[in-house]
Amino acid sequence: MLGYALGEKYWGKGIMTEAVRAVIRYGFETLKLDLISAYCYPFNTRSKNILLKMGFTYEGTLKLAEKLYDGSVNDNECYSLTSEEYNAI
Ligand SMILES: CC(C)(COP(=O)(O)OP(=O)(O)OC[C@H]1O[C@@H](n2cnc3c(N)ncnc32)[C@H](O)[C@@H]1OP(=O)(O)O)[C@@H](O)C(=O)NCCC(=O)NCCS
Repeated sequence: MLGYALGEKYWGKGIMTEAVRAVIRYGFETLKLDLISAYCYPFNTRSKNILLKMGFTYEGTLKLAEKLYDGSVNDNECYSLTSEEYNAI
């Protein structure tokens, strides 16, 4: 499972897209993983866009999956990329 966070002053420069691309390559080409998954909150458009740019597929939503520091309880959207899909890109 993939997760990522970047200091806010570095957002919007394409840094995490580049980092995620490298980690995915390492996962499939070196570790020989079959599948990489990632979850994000439905409102986290920046995060979702990274996954879609990398070719991840939306699998479904886990409802009320996580409680945040502010007490709100949020759904989690589940995404995945298989080695077959990666090799076809
Ligand atoms: C989600 C998060 C990692 C995104 O990081 P980021 O580096 O801003 O993401 P990206 O790599 O997609 O960069 C965003 C934009 O940079 C822009 N950009 C500017 N220069 C660029 C370049 N040289 N190359 C590529 N993109 C560039 C692009 O427009 C891109 O957006 P778009 O492709 O949708 O148009 C960051 O907002 C974060 O850490 N958030 C808090 C933690 C979090 O939410 N983590 C995810 C939990 S699921």
